[in-house]
Amino acid sequence: MDHHSWIKDEIGRLRQNNLWRSLRSVESLPLGRAKIDGREIILLGSNNYLGLSAHPQVIEAAKNALVGFGTGSSGSRLTTGNLNLYAELEEKIAKLKQTEAAIVFSSGYLANIGVISVLAVEGDLILSDQLNHASIIDGCRLSKAEKLIYLHSDLTHLEHLLKDAGRYQRRWIITDGVFSMDGDIAPLPAIYDLACRYGARLIVDDAHGFGVLGRKGSGTVEYFGLSKNRDIIQIGTLSKAVGGLGGYVAASKNLIDLLINQARSFIFSTGLPPATLAAAAAAVDIIHSCVETRQKLLGNARKLKNELHQHKFDFLVNETQIIPLIIGSAKRTLHFSEVLFEHGVYAPAIRPPTVPEGTSRLRISVIATHTDDDIRKVIQALIESRTSVDKIYQL
Ligand SMILES: Cc1ncc(COP(=O)(O)O)c(C=O)c1O
Repeated sequence: MDHHSWIKDEIGRLRQNNLWRSLRSVESLPLGRAKIDGREIILLGSNNYLGLSAHPQVIEAAKNALVGFGTGSSGSRLTTGNLNLYAELEEKIAKLKQTEAAIVFSSGYLANIGVISVLAVEGDLILSDQLNHASIIDGCRLSKAEKLIYLHSDLTHLEHLLKDAGRYQRRWIITDGVFSMDGDIAPLPAIYDLACRYGARLIVDDAHGFGVLGRKGSGTVEYFGLSKNRDIIQIGTLSKAVGGLGGYVAASKNLIDLLINQARSFIFSTGLPPATLAAAAAAVDIIHSCVETRQKLLGNARKLKNELHQHKFDFLVNETQIIPLIIGSAKRTLHFSEVLFEHGVYAPAIRPPTVPEGTSRLRISVIATHTDDDIRKVIQALIESRTSVDKIYQL
């Protein structure tokens, strides 16, 4: 088959399986909303959990850096791109995380693939949670270590695999802190305990916990009171609660120095734009102290979950701002998302391979600036959409 026919066939296969993805153009992003096709609708899929992308202090910091440094960083960090804004941001992250040091990559994806491929080398074993994010999976694929997947947050399975792992030179356990598509929190104290007992090192990707969990917003490790345990390697992103772009690793100074020398996704990629770095530093400062905004976010999530429960929606129960509304088939989920959009609410349809077959869902995430009125409108739209989708599928 020639190249052209093969591409056409692949597209046909994706469309037939309701797995075709297309881009939706967002015209503006007022907090908690989006303007799409000329209409302002409520946005329920945003990771801008604290609304910091529009915070006046964050915007001011970005503007000043833009005027002071221009639009780009001019090179990779090991050449000309290491603007002094990096040092300031990394110090703030390390302080919040209570680690010796931190290093910023150009995205969370790049941080994950960089860390895992540097640390887990031939002769090592990686134990990775079944529901870990795609960037962890890709990091594992790049690593020359052996990989085993443990059942989602299943401590018995993890221990079973660890018991048999004595022959490897090092063992690494990798887990999301808050799982991106299920919204549940990994049982870190028990995982850390197993890591200590079996001589493994724990790596936590806290993309969705950073800024949200813990009194200071440091994330899942703080939430569980584990911040004193300096051997936990913490990865995260600046693209969610921080409201911008970038990824980070918070760990010991030696580990960070090794990444600077060996992580290909750090070395061979251009540094972040100055405005992005300054915005992130201002946002991390706010995160330290915005206790009320965090409470508002988690309060909004609780309100929406209560309403969903009362109206008998099938959603996964967790303690976070991520609410997975399980629909089932990819076709029905896509349809539900489209009908909901017509009712003025945008919640993207999440389908395989992002989630397992038969568990397609709307990944609903509230943000701190959603109002009670927004939540009422969302529930109304969900009820009406369910009624019209159910009618079609009962035919
Ligand atoms: C758990 C998790 N890790 C890593 C990433 C990647 O982060 P980024 O979007 O900054 O590349 C994401 C989000 O996309 C995520 O949900």
